[in-house]
Amino acid sequence: MADIKQFAGNLQEFLEYKKEEGFRTLEISPETLALLKPAPASAKPAVRPSAPRSAPLVAPQSSIRVTGKTLEEIAGQIRICAACPLRTSRKNTVPGEGNPNRPGIMFVGEGPGADEDVQGRPFVGAAGQLLDKMIAGMGYKREEVFIANIVKCRPPGNRVPLPEEMNACVPYLKAQIALIKPKIIVALGKTAVQGLLQEEVAITKFRGTWCKYEGIDLMPTYHPAYLLRSPGKKGEAWADLKAVLAKLGREPPSKKTNE
Ligand code: URA
Repeated sequence: MADIKQFAGNLQEFLEYKKEEGFRTLEISPETLALLKPAPASAKPAVRPSAPRSAPLVAPQSSIRVTGKTLEEIAGQIRICAACPLRTSRKNTVPGEGNPNRPGIMFVGEGPGADEDVQGRPFVGAAGQLLDKMIAGMGYKREEVFIANIVKCRPPGNRVPLPEEMNACVPYLKAQIALIKPKIIVALGKTAVQGLLQEEVAITKFRGTWCKYEGIDLMPTYHPAYLLRSPGKKGEAWADLKAVLAKLGREPPSKKTNE
């Protein structure tokens, strides 16, 4: 049986992307429409899985002062972090992993999902498997790049992190980036772009355009979870990743043929 909170979160994200793509109507069967009819007043209010979109993007200054001087020390600080309510529902913190020594690419996602929460590692679920394929398609091994997220703890039901959660957590990512010094940052999806650039963007329009984060080239592209739901968009994401390779002076490895 599907987790209702996760389903609602995915549905909301899907609808937001469709809106960004310019869709103003959706075809819905009469049966589905009947299911979506407002519940009677006596019914419980519906679960609200995501931040109100009108919430301010830049929340007050984070209370976190990152004292760690190494990635391990930062991970240790994250492990005991209590700066936002996500601490109460997490199983594990997910600081990120990969090549810490000036890798060509650092991928930044949104936040841990259920699998990541259990394992304490980023992108190990279904979206992670697609990210692994994207990395391999670029000619890298997973351990050659660095992978991290905007928030280090799982938002309940995989909802989008709230602005205040992102704001509280982002100093960790900032400190990690300063130590890792990636040549290029690939921001996976709208939340990653917003967390890094503090800018409200429509990812369908913004993807593929070079930006800068603290002097580092940043390429925004689609989140792998979105690509799993909209495989027709994989070509655009691949174009973004090829632009990243070109900037690094590399080409995608040629596909092996069965000659
Ligand atoms: N989605 C993300 O944004 N990050 C993860 O680590 C896993 C899924």
